[in-house]
Amino acid sequence: MLVLDGKIASAAIKEKLQQEVALIVEKKQRIPHLAAILIGNNGASETYVASKVKNCEEVGIESSLIRFESDVDQTTLLNKIEELNTDANIDGILVQLPLPGHINEQKVIEAIHPTKDVDGFHPISAGKLVQGMQTFIPATPYGIMLMLEHYNIQPKGKHAVVIGRSNIVGRPMSILLSSNTKYGNATVTICHSHTPNLAEICLQADILVAALGKPGFVKANMVKDGAIVIDVGITRVEDNTAKKGFRIKGDVAYDEVAPKAAAITPVPGGVGLMTIAGLLKNTLQAYQQHQ
Ligand SMILES: NC(=O)c1ccc[n+]([C@@H]2O[C@H](COP(=O)([O-])OP(=O)(O)OC[C@H]3O[C@@H](n4cnc5c(N)ncnc54)[C@H](OP(=O)(O)O)[C@@H]3O)[C@@H](O)[C@H]2O)c1
Repeated sequence: MLVLDGKIASAAIKEKLQQEVALIVEKKQRIPHLAAILIGNNGASETYVASKVKNCEEVGIESSLIRFESDVDQTTLLNKIEELNTDANIDGILVQLPLPGHINEQKVIEAIHPTKDVDGFHPISAGKLVQGMQTFIPATPYGIMLMLEHYNIQPKGKHAVVIGRSNIVGRPMSILLSSNTKYGNATVTICHSHTPNLAEICLQADILVAALGKPGFVKANMVKDGAIVIDVGITRVEDNTAKKGFRIKGDVAYDEVAPKAAAITPVPGGVGLMTIAGLLKNTLQAYQQHQ
């Protein structure tokens, strides 16, 4: 069984990005710049944004962290996004989700100019993805595709089952795996909370992507021998024995599934790190399109 190590795969991608940014610096050109907006002080969101900023630094991309209190009004937020849209120094804009209940998430997503939409959540980015056009791919499914590429896992001709149909993970994942591309061409089944016989469908998967947000949901009896298992889930589960009072759990019961799998991503240390790599690649892509 092969552990698909997000640390190793993302380090390889980051090294290449670092070299590309170093060339930009050498040519004395403007440095790529990501603006991240964080609202409130949700612990998980704080961690994700801090990690994005730190990873930008590591490869030489500039970043600005813009913070608002959780009671910020929608107009103030939209005005800030508009300011960043027109700022020639900013290449990519991300607004960390989830947003407080009084803010319309869709409005915020659509306020980001599609040329700076490095999260790939704008309907224009999503539409382009469906049509196989060059676009910003949402960072998590993009990171998973980069992971498959790193380990040269070819989905072509395989049956991929994706559990989850969200706009940020499951749905774009299913599109990428079924696309006519080098690491696509799988036959894809997408499952959700209304799917009957989920276990039976999962058992048919050569590639199983779990993105439902239910810790330990995928058990050994749902996985075919020799399957490739991609665990997207990240849930904080209370654990008083842990230093922080919680542990991060994936959607796959790793200990019982790993012995059956040909390859599997751990949580933590798998898809989460690849997500950052996907975001960094999108930021550099936005920069290159702006220059
Ligand atoms: N590693 C990373 O970088 C990363 C990035 C993003 C998200 N995540 C994690 O990935 C997980 C999913 O995130 P998300 O944003 O896609 O979540 P989401 O928006 O809540 O979507 C969950 C999807 O799973 C489906 N689902 C829920 N329970 C199910 C069940 N019992 N059987 C079958 N399908 C079920 C839902 O079906 P319905 O549509 O029918 O409700 C929905 O489509 C979360 O743990 C999240 O924290 C990780």
